[in-house]
Amino acid sequence: MDRRLLIAGNWKMNTTYDQAVELAGALVEKVGSIDALDIAVCPPFPYLLAVGQAIKGSNITLGAQDVFYEDNGAYTGEVSAEMLKDAGCKYVICGHSERRHVIGETDELINRKLLKSIAEGLYPILCVGELLTERQAGETIEVVSQQVTRGLEGVSATDMKNVTIAYEPVWAIGTGVNATPDQAEQVQAMIRQLIGQIYDASHAKETRILYGGSVKPDNAAELLACPDIDGALVGGASLKADDFARIIEQGLLMCR
Ligand code: PGA
Repeated sequence: MDRRLLIAGNWKMNTTYDQAVELAGALVEKVGSIDALDIAVCPPFPYLLAVGQAIKGSNITLGAQDVFYEDNGAYTGEVSAEMLKDAGCKYVICGHSERRHVIGETDELINRKLLKSIAEGLYPILCVGELLTERQAGETIEVVSQQVTRGLEGVSATDMKNVTIAYEPVWAIGTGVNATPDQAEQVQAMIRQLIGQIYDASHAKETRILYGGSVKPDNAAELLACPDIDGALVGGASLKADDFARIIEQGLLMCR
């Protein structure tokens, strides 16, 4: 496969300072020297520096869970892309479903965050995915297409090389019910086709599209074996070093 796998851990609003540093240290020991695929961890903002320090010198990279689109100024509580770069981040998650559905982020807001991240040299991970009610109403393709199209508005063909997409059906996130490989592959392939329409065939072929939603050590292999799944965005299972390492090992098997 010419797309490099990425296994990214989204720690969400979890861990204490000590737990974050310990988890990062354990991951360095278990998977820190792997270079056949990309590995990232996205801790909460207050622990970015400490986790960055803990993974320093390893092949694990740092990501943030969110970003704001302005450079600086009177935006209480927000964190800029420049600050994230400064803190050592490579990746930034944009439009995670919890931000869309709990916080109320719109496609337009997410697009602004994505554009700013790219402008600052970060590698955004654009999350898309349908609600259970939308799936049941047969609207999955429509909803996801719209999120992808609006999320990528204004992203040039050159900059698209820095963008990763993550398909995360909302009903599969944190529920223990993952999409079946067939369900995931159907949407992942559609997203790739859409990238081909927005950009061209080579971008479609090169864009990394992750799957997320209850990825665990025991289902990672069958999901990662799908032709259009180029890695995983892992929530719950990324909080246990053993589980996250086992998912990465499943990914490694796909690289050989
Ligand atoms: P989960 O979360 O693995 O706990 O389902 C995935 C995500 O929200 O990125």
